[in-house]
Amino acid sequence: MSTILALPPVARRVVELREQVKAWRNAGLKVALVPTMGALHEGHLTLVRAALEYADKVVVSIFVNPTQFGPTEDFDAYPRTLDADRANLATAGAALVYAPTVAEMYPDGFATAITVSGVSEGLCGDLRPGHFSGVATVVTKFLVQAMPDVAAFGEKDYQQLQVIRRLVRDLDIPVTILGVPTVREADGLARSSRNAYLSAESRKVAPALYRTLQDTAAAIRAGAAVDTALEAGKRAILAAGFASVDYLELRAADGLAPLSDLDRPARILVAAYLGKTRLIDNIAV
Ligand code: PAF
Repeated sequence: MSTILALPPVARRVVELREQVKAWRNAGLKVALVPTMGALHEGHLTLVRAALEYADKVVVSIFVNPTQFGPTEDFDAYPRTLDADRANLATAGAALVYAPTVAEMYPDGFATAITVSGVSEGLCGDLRPGHFSGVATVVTKFLVQAMPDVAAFGEKDYQQLQVIRRLVRDLDIPVTILGVPTVREADGLARSSRNAYLSAESRKVAPALYRTLQDTAAAIRAGAAVDTALEAGKRAILAAGFASVDYLELRAADGLAPLSDLDRPARILVAAYLGKTRLIDNIAV
């Protein structure tokens, strides 16, 4: 006999979210938050499972945040799949979906923005002006609204994770930020909602991004000059069939300072266009 899992309820208003979180707290339960923009895949469900190791109840926010999209980006086209998302979240054990409207998050007259300097600059920060301020503002709001004990974010968006760690430290927000390793397809492609945009042909090319990260990391670990290894990596990505490379860089794992030598724990980060789809990924070195 198959078991039908109850779908997690949906809170649309911040007051509903707060009432539920307060009830859990009064019952002595720990609460985690997993912020998402929906179109959930295995990567998001892994965040929920990871959060459940630290908390009794997991709230998943689903909100396609307009302030983190540039004017020519895919805000309107971004997939919105609430029913399927709830069904997936039921299997992962989420207790509540928080899916506020844009008006609930940004009421008329909303005039505040959080800007995190340093870690927001360079990499995606230069190529997507305003993106990290949009992310920092919405994540700060979610943390203040839910007041979770723990909040989980994927390492796939490594620069975003660094921005969030910085703002939580700087603003003394009492939450533990959990960075969860990237979930990959069998061929190495990092799971992402935007993979849905790839044509069948592009999908075959896409794993070259992770392969190049691995090869570049191996070359640097073996003592290759960082610049030479990164240039070779860019050439390999283009040769595989990518249209352009936004960046392929070696950065400090903590704080993202640019590195020209491997003199501390580091990360290689990449962003490249495959057709019209921009893919990002990163790897520890
Ligand atoms: O990573 C995402 O899905 C988004 O940037 C986040 C953290 C949910 C903020 O909108």
